[in-house]
Amino acid sequence: MTSTAVLQPEPQPIVACTISRDVQNFDLLIEDMEGVLGESWGDLSFADALPFFEQADAAHLEFVAIAINDEDETHLTLIGDIITTAKDKGIKIILIAEDTTPAALHSLLRMGADEFIPYPLPENELGAAIERIQTPPPAPVAEVPAEMQSNLKAVNDRNGVVLAVHGMAGGTGATTLAINLAWELVTVEKDKTPRVCILDFDLQCGNVSTYLDLDRREAVYELLSDTESMDSDAFMQTLLAYNEKLHVFTAPSDMLPLDLVEPEDIQRLIGFAASNFDYVIVDMPSTVVAWTETVLQSAHVYFATLELEMRSAQNTQRLKRLLQSEDLPFEKIRFVLNRAPKFIDLNGKSRIKRLAESLGISIELLMPDGGKAVVQNADNGLAMAHGLAKSPLRKEIIKLAKSVHELNDDAAVGS
Ligand SMILES: Nc1ncnc2c1ncn2[C@@H]1O[C@H](COP(=O)(O)OP(=O)(O)OP(=O)(O)O)[C@@H](O)[C@H]1O
Ligand SMILES: [Mg+2]
Repeated sequence: MTSTAVLQPEPQPIVACTISRDVQNFDLLIEDMEGVLGESWGDLSFADALPFFEQADAAHLEFVAIAINDEDETHLTLIGDIITTAKDKGIKIILIAEDTTPAALHSLLRMGADEFIPYPLPENELGAAIERIQTPPPAPVAEVPAEMQSNLKAVNDRNGVVLAVHGMAGGTGATTLAINLAWELVTVEKDKTPRVCILDFDLQCGNVSTYLDLDRREAVYELLSDTESMDSDAFMQTLLAYNEKLHVFTAPSDMLPLDLVEPEDIQRLIGFAASNFDYVIVDMPSTVVAWTETVLQSAHVYFATLELEMRSAQNTQRLKRLLQSEDLPFEKIRFVLNRAPKFIDLNGKSRIKRLAESLGISIELLMPDGGKAVVQNADNGLAMAHGLAKSPLRKEIIKLAKSVHELNDDAAVGS
């Protein structure tokens, strides 16, 4: 039995079309289209173009060459529709014009034609224009300004201390604590600089980058959406540096759903960070998500910021109930009362006591209100060490950094 089927050449898909009132007016165009594309192109009238775009045959169209002359200026609206429809469908447009007024040309180009060639076509110009529209634009190279570059290489020899910070209510100072604790740990020792990194896991509203005047990085999204193919080197390359020494995994540039990442992704990221840094500070969203537990389990200390107010109290109560009902380690949480009343404020003191008692928690850390200066300094993109070195709030955070570091040193000696 013989079959001729295999000998039948596959019809070539139409990858381009000329569109004009009458293509015979543009015989040089026909010649050049044949020269460049052989038989894989077709010809359409203005009236046929829009219906053709809706047909299955149009699926392979890469570009259309719209050829017009002075007699077509009365059809500018239809030609404009053809251009915008082609553009919507991702089809490139080469405009070829003979004796057209500058105003008409201008308006068609503004509608989105990708290339313009005068007719009669200059030699090889059609081929060159096709090549240009077929070459994808170079991917934007995400330039990182020199001062933000993190030049640390992966070492994979650390077993960093993980410190998470979670606001019990929005605006209670979680990020302020995370950033300043991180910076004070960088400078906690005179002659040695621990490797410190901060992970901004507040994927939607994360503003570590704002407070440290860093860009939010596109690369972060790529990494978050495929942590499985990430390695330590890729992780290190996404970090930015504040003042060369504090390394920051910023939130992504777009607002992402918090469940874009899964517990395994977060586990991997923390793993990469902990094996390359001495301290890993995690800034958490104040919402509880599927991977909150992952961070809680990985953290050596889980700080929760709250204020003397109903929102914080009620949310803390709810979190306590949730964690206890799931047998999760609520006791790991260290409560930090932000904007705490001054020590001499006896009324304030008894309010703190009452809050702690009613919640059944102990509030070990009190951070004073630093006033507007704290907000302004953060807006200037500086850690407090750089713009507000003498702030009483900073002094408390230094104390905390020292105690964390001493504990860690003791543990290292003991191990
Ligand atoms: N102790 C403080 N004294 C004065 N201002 C403070 C203090 N703590 C935080 N702030 C300011 O309060 C605002 C909120 O703080 P921050 O962003 O740290 O809170 P957050 O809990 O991370 O908020 P979010 O819910 O937006 O993540 C910021 O402008 C910050 O500068
Ligand atoms: Mg925050």
